[in-house]
Amino acid sequence: MEYLSEILKILDGALKANASMASNYAGLLADKLESDGDKRQARMIRERLARAPAALASAQDAANGFSFSNLPTDGESHLHTVDVSRPELEKESLLLSSAVAGRVHEFLANIRRYDDLARVGAAMSSRLLTYGPPGTGKTRLARYVAAHLELPLLTVRCDTLVSSLLGQTSRNLRRVFEFSQQQPCVLFLDEFDALAGARGNERDVGELQRVVIALLQNIDAVPESTIIVAATNHDQLLDPAIWRRFSFRIPMAEPDLDLRKLLWKQYLQPFKADALDLDHLAKISKGITGANIEQVCLDTKRAVVLSNATAIDEDQLLRRLGLNLALTAGRVLSTVESEIRWLNGWAPRYFSLRTLGRLYDLSTRQITKILKEEIESGRQEVTATGVAECEG
Ligand SMILES: Nc1ncnc2c1ncn2[C@@H]1O[C@H](COP(=O)(O)OP(=O)(O)OP(=O)(O)O)[C@@H](O)[C@H]1O
Ligand SMILES: [Mg+2]
Repeated sequence: MEYLSEILKILDGALKANASMASNYAGLLADKLESDGDKRQARMIRERLARAPAALASAQDAANGFSFSNLPTDGESHLHTVDVSRPELEKESLLLSSAVAGRVHEFLANIRRYDDLARVGAAMSSRLLTYGPPGTGKTRLARYVAAHLELPLLTVRCDTLVSSLLGQTSRNLRRVFEFSQQQPCVLFLDEFDALAGARGNERDVGELQRVVIALLQNIDAVPESTIIVAATNHDQLLDPAIWRRFSFRIPMAEPDLDLRKLLWKQYLQPFKADALDLDHLAKISKGITGANIEQVCLDTKRAVVLSNATAIDEDQLLRRLGLNLALTAGRVLSTVESEIRWLNGWAPRYFSLRTLGRLYDLSTRQITKILKEEIESGRQEVTATGVAECEG
């Protein structure tokens, strides 16, 4: 039977006295009937929705499309525990290695053809877990998935869901999962480790156990076709029972050489990268994340505009990259002198006396002096460490 999944959702909504769910799915059914050319039936459904009691505001909206009503809130802070957005494909570009892109498209195909796959018992649950270091595109991936499927994204910041009140976290979780059943959407559990920490964890074992159990129960209570994306920086903290619930697992790593080249090119736009040595740039930016490439490009582009120039200055770009890498490595460069020394040490062939002089508006003699001081202070540092070691 066609549209069985919509009809079942409308029935679920009615049985659970969840009017928003029933009306949203009725609205969706009307849209599908209309796009199949069945205008009369679509109109009949919409007329019913429009006649719903005024208190049922979402039903009125469903007559014209979708709505989420009554965003769930945390009983303690009274803040919303989810945020609804509608990502658009043009704004959510995501550059992926071919292996990762393959996995993502497999996930999307599993959702799009879910009913066909389910018919032969080959559907996987529509759940994706993405993990990796900060700034590697995990949140962007969730937005990309929602944009591709043209579905609203329900973002749950798991750390805000965790309440200090006993039992409130489990209640928050239940409300969020129930809410996700109101209409087709992508439920995105960001900072997932805040919820899904291993049960054996030492701190506050009792409460954490209850949260993990509640999470497992909630995941199991929604149909396998409910689209859930979860993201974490700390995959090693996740409970094995949680891992098992996610059929698709996508690691997001720092971009490789080819990907870095593409990211540089993309984020430097609208400036042309033709005059730049992108291969070199990609090579010396090993270990950097997509987020940092974006940041370096933004800073460089801003400098181009503010200095009334028309093209990217490669020296400035490399300088900002060098400083960004220093920051990532935890180096504090609080003075111009320390910046100059760091850059020269990082890429001596590139940051020659002349280039550094031009960048910092100093003479080559001044640069030489600054670098010489480094050698001396470097010697001092070695001596200091030597002393510390002896003392240790
Ligand atoms: N592979 C990528 N393709 C395109 N843009 C990327 C990529 N990786 C990171 N970015 C850029 O970096 C920004 C930050 O990425 P995002 O917020 O998705 O990282 P994250 O992995 O969720 O980080 P965190 O763990 O800190 O939440 C994005 O807005 C995007 O502009
Ligand atoms: Mg994120």
